[in-house]
Amino acid sequence: MVTAPRHIPVVADRVLDLLEPAVLAADTPVLVDTTLGLGGHSEAILERFGEVRVIGIDRDGDALRRATARLEPFGDRFTPVHAVYDEIAEAVRSVGVARVTGVLFDLGVSSMQLDQAERGFAYAQDAPLDMRMNPQDPLTAAEVLNSYEERELARVLRDYGEEKFARKIARTIVREREREPFERSARLVELVRDAIPAPARRTGGNPAKRTFQALRIEVNDELGAYERALPAALGLTEIGGRVVVLSYHSLEDRITKRTFAAATTSTAPPGLPVVPPEHEPRFRLLTRGAERASETEIAENPRATSVRLRAVERIAHDQR
Ligand SMILES: C[S@@+](CC[C@H](N)C(=O)[O-])C[C@H]1O[C@@H](n2cnc3c(N)ncnc32)[C@H](O)[C@@H]1O
Repeated sequence: MVTAPRHIPVVADRVLDLLEPAVLAADTPVLVDTTLGLGGHSEAILERFGEVRVIGIDRDGDALRRATARLEPFGDRFTPVHAVYDEIAEAVRSVGVARVTGVLFDLGVSSMQLDQAERGFAYAQDAPLDMRMNPQDPLTAAEVLNSYEERELARVLRDYGEEKFARKIARTIVREREREPFERSARLVELVRDAIPAPARRTGGNPAKRTFQALRIEVNDELGAYERALPAALGLTEIGGRVVVLSYHSLEDRITKRTFAAATTSTAPPGLPVVPPEHEPRFRLLTRGAERASETEIAENPRATSVRLRAVERIAHDQR
């Protein structure tokens, strides 16, 4: 099988190096891959660590099926779970595990989802405005475009797409949907291009990129789910266990940075001569700032271009 470069798991060696000390220290190491996708990272983990068991979560049933087939050679060392990652505690419990050795988040859409044009994630191809990671979920991108109030639409485009012309685009969408509801992506791409001022069209790639990102985040409640999932993952991690996150845009990375900062900072009031144990941080940072991929990796795998990696290790129990 020829593997296209975009299917290579991102910064996989660094992810494995970060997880290794936790795996070596554990009696029965269990890692959770919360974003299984095509199983690239899980496969690398199962190959490198002979004793590890991997629980692989994905909300996309198709991805889960494909990854499960790929990981079949590892037998019962791999367990797939169809869930949204904010259900990580239930998912882990459902397969009889109480605490985990490590958790990996490789956020966003997979190359497979982008390649399946009919799912509507890629603005470069005309397709139905769907964008659901789990096709059983009720809300589609078309539904957002055709039913949200103008102010709500502008908020989605501004907050999730960091789109400067959010109000203008939202106004144009509302006007245009009166003529005919939105169904396919080409019309939206054209509308966004026409709605923004000509000089802005010439910089920063396809102007529809930010609108598509915003719709995808809204349709899948990506930031809400992640904001709930990361603390839940930290809560499940045993002492010496590690949580590694790969984010691809600043909104996700901000949540990671904020959550890790809170977990790795003492909660003692400033100036206490001795910090009582209940105020000691429960985690320590393993990365300085956000790590990026090397130029060599980016040249081989364009998906690595925007990755930001952060990781922490648990050093103390939660206080009760
Ligand atoms: C970037 S891909 C992961 C690729 C994978 N690491 C690999 O090497 O093949 C992200 C995957 O996470 C899944 N995903 C995104 N948000 C999710 C969520 N909230 N809950 C569960 N899975 C999610 C997507 O369906 C997608 O398959």
